Amino acid sequence: MNKELVDYIEKNIFPKYERFYSHGMIHINNVINNVLMLADYYGLNKDICYAMAAFHDIGLNVDRENHEIESAKIVADDKKLQEIFSKEEITIIKEAVEDHRGSRKSPPRSIYGKVLSDSDRDFDIELLAKRQLATSIKNYPELNTFDEHFERCYSYIMKRINDSGHFNLWTDNPILIERREKFEIDYLDKEYARSVYKKEFDRISQDGTYEQILNYYLDY
Ligand SMILES: [Fe+2]
Ligand SMILES: [Fe+2]
Repeated sequence: MNKELVDYIEKNIFPKYERFYSHGMIHINNVINNVLMLADYYGLNKDICYAMAAFHDIGLNVDRENHEIESAKIVADDKKLQEIFSKEEITIIKEAVEDHRGSRKSPPRSIYGKVLSDSDRDFDIELLAKRQLATSIKNYPELNTFDEHFERCYSYIMKRINDSGHFNLWTDNPILIERREKFEIDYLDKEYARSVYKKEFDRISQDGTYEQILNYYLDY
């Protein structure tokens, strides 16, 4: 991979995720690992994949509801990316970032967009509970009880089941499909899902993370 790109992103982009909780560096590193795995599988340009993963949630503290648009604007305006990539490559990165949302109903415009979107899914119930509860606490401060948060989180994710009865994936990589299968067994057992979310909710209520999500972290 291009060393100049990696250095630039490590020094200038990753620090911008420092005060993000659900979308902090654990999430960004997971997405990077997934896109690089899929880049191998589909024979894609790894520099493009790395850049799109590194930038994809960067617009979150500008405007959560349209963060994919804000992230894409940051990609388009980035001087260093313009030095490293051609115009066509910047367009691929920008469009992939713009198309990454899991709630999107139409397919991303390119294979890069599909790879990024699928790499952004949490097919891990513990990780999903952690990220989703934080998002719920930040965005819905009017919800008070665990049950209110859990029901909102659960119905939100269940909307992502597609016509074939699975959580949507745009690509057909066997590793992601296997992860999804395991995740579906966990998640579709609602009582089990509730127990995982409850454990996480109790943990963050007791260790001060709940207050930090409201008062310190910047992402939604
Ligand atoms: Fe995102
Ligand atoms: Fe993300």
